[in-house]
Amino acid sequence: MSITARPLLGPLLLALAGLAVAAPDAGNLEALRGSMHLDRDPAPARIADPLKDQGIQDREYIHQPPLVPHQVRGYEVDLKVNQCLSCHGWKNAADRNAPRVSPTHYESRDGLTLSDISPRRYFCLQCHVPQTGAKPLVENTFTPVESLR
Ligand code: HEC
Ligand code: HEC
Repeated sequence: MSITARPLLGPLLLALAGLAVAAPDAGNLEALRGSMHLDRDPAPARIADPLKDQGIQDREYIHQPPLVPHQVRGYEVDLKVNQCLSCHGWKNAADRNAPRVSPTHYESRDGLTLSDISPRRYFCLQCHVPQTGAKPLVENTFTPVESLR
C-alpha cells in the first residue's frame, strides 16, 4: 500500500499547483465599476432617460412583478408617505383609474392576510421597475414561457 502511495504524491502536488495557476487572475477581471480602486468613486453613471407612459406591459413569466409603465420621478415613498399607494392602494385605485395592488401585497410572510399593505411590499420599487431606453448591461437570450408568448 505505502509503496504505491508514495510515487503518487509528486504528481498530485504538481496537479494542485496547476489548479492554483488556472484560478482566474484577479488583476484581469473587469467589474461593473471598471478598474477603479475601491477607495475612489467612479463618475456616477448617467441614468438613461425614463420612457414616457407606455401602457400596461406584457409579463414574461407568471410571478413577475409587472413593469412600471409610467415615470416615477418625484413619487415619494418613505415612512410617512407612499405615493404609489395613493393611486394603487385599494382605497383610491378606482378613483384614480389605476390597477390595484393584488392581495399578495397584503399578506405577511406567514401567509396571514393583513388589513393594510404588508411591510414586505411597502417599498414598491424594490420589485417594480420603471423603464429606460438603456442598453442591457449583459446580453441575454431569455424568452417568455410558451403560454405568455
Ligand atoms: C397618479 C397615480 C399613480 C401613481 C402615483 C403611481 N401610479 Fe402606477 N399606474 C397608474 C396608472 C393609471 C397605471 C395604469 C397605466 C395604464 O393603464 O396605461 C399604473 C400602472 C402601474 C403598474 C403596472 C401594473 C400592471 O398590471 O402591469 C405598476 C407596476 C405601477 N403602476 C407601479 C407604480 C409604482 C411603483 C408607483 C410609485 C413609485 C406608482 N405606480 C405610482 C397610476 C399611478
Ligand atoms: C417583494 C416584491 C414586491 C413589492 C415590494 C411590491 N410588489 Fe407589486 N407585485 C409583485 C408581484 C410578484 C406581482 C405579480 C404577482 C402578484 O400579484 O403577487 C405584483 C403585482 C402588482 C400589481 C398588479 C396587480 C394585478 O392584479 O395585476 C400592481 C399594480 C402592483 N404590484 C403595485 C405595487 C405597489 C404600488 C407596490 C408598493 C406599495 C408594490 N407593488 C410592491 C411584487 C412586489
